Amino acid sequence: MRVACVQFQPLRTAVTANVDRMIAFWPDGCVLTVFPELATTGYLFLSPDEIRVYAEPADGPSLSRLIQAAAAKNAYAVVGFAEAKNGRIYNSAALVGPHGVIDVYRKVHLFDRELSVFSPGREAWRVHDVGGLRVGMMICFDWLFPEAARALALAGAELIAHPSNLVLPYCQDAMITRCLENRVYAATANRVGEETDGETSLHFTGKSQIVSPKGERLAQAGAEEDAVVVAEIDPSLAYDKRATPSNHIFAQRVPHLYHALTDDIVPLRSEKPYRLNVAAIVVDRLGRILAGERSDLPGVWQLPQGGIDPGESEEEALRRELAEEIGVAAEEIEIVARSNEVRTYSFPAYLRRMRIAQEWSGQAQRYFVVRLKKGAEPAVEASDGEFCAFRWLAAEELLAQAVHFKRAAYAAAFSEFAHLLRPDPLSDDA
Ligand code: ACM
Repeated sequence: MRVACVQFQPLRTAVTANVDRMIAFWPDGCVLTVFPELATTGYLFLSPDEIRVYAEPADGPSLSRLIQAAAAKNAYAVVGFAEAKNGRIYNSAALVGPHGVIDVYRKVHLFDRELSVFSPGREAWRVHDVGGLRVGMMICFDWLFPEAARALALAGAELIAHPSNLVLPYCQDAMITRCLENRVYAATANRVGEETDGETSLHFTGKSQIVSPKGERLAQAGAEEDAVVVAEIDPSLAYDKRATPSNHIFAQRVPHLYHALTDDIVPLRSEKPYRLNVAAIVVDRLGRILAGERSDLPGVWQLPQGGIDPGESEEEALRRELAEEIGVAAEEIEIVARSNEVRTYSFPAYLRRMRIAQEWSGQAQRYFVVRLKKGAEPAVEASDGEFCAFRWLAAEELLAQAVHFKRAAYAAAFSEFAHLLRPDPLSDDA
């Protein structure tokens, strides 16, 4: 059977024209054709509002046109598109066939500025049988997380469809390793050309490729031009996980030694104490929670929190931290609830050189639910700069965007205060 990658230059915001060109490039005679990431919209958008008008639901016009083309060709495609779903925008890939959309994968590992444009996908990798080929999807920067390709291969993928908009030079070579270590095919459909938004410009690296389970490049496009690359593949080769006659790489795995890969955290092993700290669940009248984006870690959103100074009460610490971190004065803050529990999280071993981790094993937190008095607003300009942006998020959205080692503590606190995380029926806004 044959598979293909289409490499082209989507035009930013020209959705209809991009879909026209995808259909024109789509080769006949291939069971599966992979198109680039965000092929319908173009790549470079700097905010959710900028891309929102070009994003579509999975049953929107762009995928509907591609389904018609799939029916005409009796073939399947994986297509990168900006997906509008439940008020959020995802960097998604759809597997489409003659009868409709088979699945949508939402990019889990967002790259660089995408972190401030898209919501991260939080569903695990899946595999589908299309035309006798078991296909899984990952998107672009997922390549740097070997867990993604591994999860797909363990789920039975014979071919990884990999829509991309690559800007770093390493991926095409790294995918050879992803294929070797998983004994799978990969079809990386990259784009070419440049995109500019305001002061920002990106150059994309082309070289779309199809790689075999033995790490051979079966086909590769050039770095700059539109191209369709096609390769003949044999799915049974991806079923054979033998690297040598005596090494079946999946049978030889020892998963119980790999728990660090799936545990939320490998904690620092230390006798150090936990630092006493207060955390603020600031809620608005719609029951949403105030999240701050860390200035030092773009894309990581968290609750305001901080340590209790000597001689300070928890409430004093809470009001001081909120004044510092969100720029709202102590008297503008109304404390609605205080947890009876102290919840701890540990610092992960990989952060052992962080200053705070040299003194403490982690944080022991008292959670408070807080409202801001009418007219009070969080403001980066009035704060100490620890956060570079604020958003009001639903609890599950904040959990999706929180750093992994705080998630369990947040989830427990949001669950304790679930009754306060709903729209306030007395509010004008609700
Ligand atoms: C990327 O993930 N688009 C580099």
